[in-house]
Amino acid sequence: MSSRSDAAPPSTVALAAPVVTIDGPSGSGKGTVSRMLAQRVGWHLLDSGALYRVVAHAGRLLGLAPDDVAGHTRIAEQMKVEFEYSGAGRERIWLDGADVAAAVRDETAGAGASRVAAWPEVRAALVARQRAAALPPGLVADGRDMGTVIFPDAPLKIFLTASAEERAKRRHKQLKEKDSAVTLPGLSREIAERDRRDATRPVAPLVPAADAIVLDSTTLSAVAVTDAIVALGRTRALWGEC
Ligand code: DC
Repeated sequence: MSSRSDAAPPSTVALAAPVVTIDGPSGSGKGTVSRMLAQRVGWHLLDSGALYRVVAHAGRLLGLAPDDVAGHTRIAEQMKVEFEYSGAGRERIWLDGADVAAAVRDETAGAGASRVAAWPEVRAALVARQRAAALPPGLVADGRDMGTVIFPDAPLKIFLTASAEERAKRRHKQLKEKDSAVTLPGLSREIAERDRRDATRPVAPLVPAADAIVLDSTTLSAVAVTDAIVALGRTRALWGEC
């Protein structure tokens, strides 16, 4: 099976800036690491998972049927979404003028994102938006298919993993902080199901790019993983001391 999406046109246009791709399953720490890295090297950040979450959330707000591919594709094409990150780790996601950051981070939006992300039409509708995020001085792109489909020519590709048990524990801790009633066994089952769906879908499945460096974060802190990526980027002359 090809790891490139048939839905994504090849990126024939040269990127306006270098890109570091960080792909991996949920709970691998890629969100935290991508944020830390972007801040440390002063590059832009693309949280591609949030785009799929926003599409699912907007579909729910509009009362679309969960299987309405055309309706969700229209949202992916037309939505006005902007991301704002503060140094303190606070994020705002503006969807047509309203901050939907909290709403798109819940498990319902996560499950909805996994569903809409399996549709080639929705994926294709988001390609140009993602590639347009590659602006100077550079972009840290966080997702599942950043290195395989969206930025196949990126000069540094990381595939971040962690054991399924560790990933469920991390996600549980995160959700508990928000007072969620979620349980660890329930979450483990959901993560296993989402991993299965993301890895086996025919379009842009979650697989490392052939030229990705695979890092296992099971026993590493986010700072240690970020340090490792900073060192790798320095050897590739993407940045200097930082
Ligand atoms: O990283 P996340 O949990 O916010 O991602 C939400 C869902 O979107 C997840 O099920 C995988 C999917 N996704 C994807 O298919 N491709 C991406 N580039 C990013 C996320």
